[in-house]
Amino acid sequence: MAEIVVSEAISGPAMDALTAEFDVLCDPQLWQDEAALRSALVDARAIIVRNQTQVSAELIEGARQLEVIARAGAGLDNIDTEAAAANGIVVTYAPRENSLAVAELALGFMLNLARNIPNAHVDTRAGNWNRGQFVGTELSGKTLGLVGFGRIGQLVAERASAFGMRVVAYDKFLPEDAPVVKQLGVKLLEFSDVLQQADYVSCHVPLLPDTRHLFSSQEFRQMKPGACFLNTSRGEVVDEAALYDALLDGHLSGAAIDVREAEPPRPGGLAALDNVLVTPHIGAFSREAQLRVVEMVCKDVRAVLTGGEAQSTFQA
Ligand code: MLT
Repeated sequence: MAEIVVSEAISGPAMDALTAEFDVLCDPQLWQDEAALRSALVDARAIIVRNQTQVSAELIEGARQLEVIARAGAGLDNIDTEAAAANGIVVTYAPRENSLAVAELALGFMLNLARNIPNAHVDTRAGNWNRGQFVGTELSGKTLGLVGFGRIGQLVAERASAFGMRVVAYDKFLPEDAPVVKQLGVKLLEFSDVLQQADYVSCHVPLLPDTRHLFSSQEFRQMKPGACFLNTSRGEVVDEAALYDALLDGHLSGAAIDVREAEPPRPGGLAALDNVLVTPHIGAFSREAQLRVVEMVCKDVRAVLTGGEAQSTFQA
């Protein structure tokens, strides 16, 4: 039986080094088979996951040799961190390493929505030359509303300002006098004010019990007519049916969605609308970010398994 179980697609030089030193079971599909996962964990000392493996209290209880749970990414919503703490298991993760990749995707989404690049590309590739059909808008002079002003929100703000956007933000946890607010020239507002003022609303909150369906009919209806909505955080933060309605009846002019309520989602729905861009949860997937993420968690797994101390831990 393997000492380290890797239940999703995680690779790179740091993973190769770990595999050379330890007995590693690497099965990218294992997260889908709960019974097989449970059995693989009976003797395992470490598990490395992304966001698809549900590391539940039940799974943890059955993994009596487990010393460390490593989350190759920032969100811990798929790990029962309290059960891990109760069983003396270290939880390590990569809270900063992919922030820039996510922020750059959000900027890419805004540019693509403003200039309708995906539809212009498909149309031109089909042999057309419809210049008049693809008159877009500029980001400069528009207001970006960030919901969540942590690491990723701040990186988005910095970049959006360089495009000449005015940036407003809502963050439940950030004090108004936090130096970063002034430093980035951002105005902190109430949630509803951000919704009412922004031409683009970009969501950057973690999935917590009180952020589930944070965006539903009421919130979309509060947004400016013709505004666009972006989500690169977690799918469950958005009531997709409500977003679909707000886009279909034209209240919102566009949306770009990297994360879904169910992943992978059923065909159709949001993905079938012409004014919606969809991507398959690739916010963190830049080569550079993945190198940083995998290196961080592999280093911590090695540290725990060799009697050392993990550097990037989460305390429940
Ligand atoms: C994260 O939480 O870091 C991202 O969603 C990336 C991922 O889950 O792989």
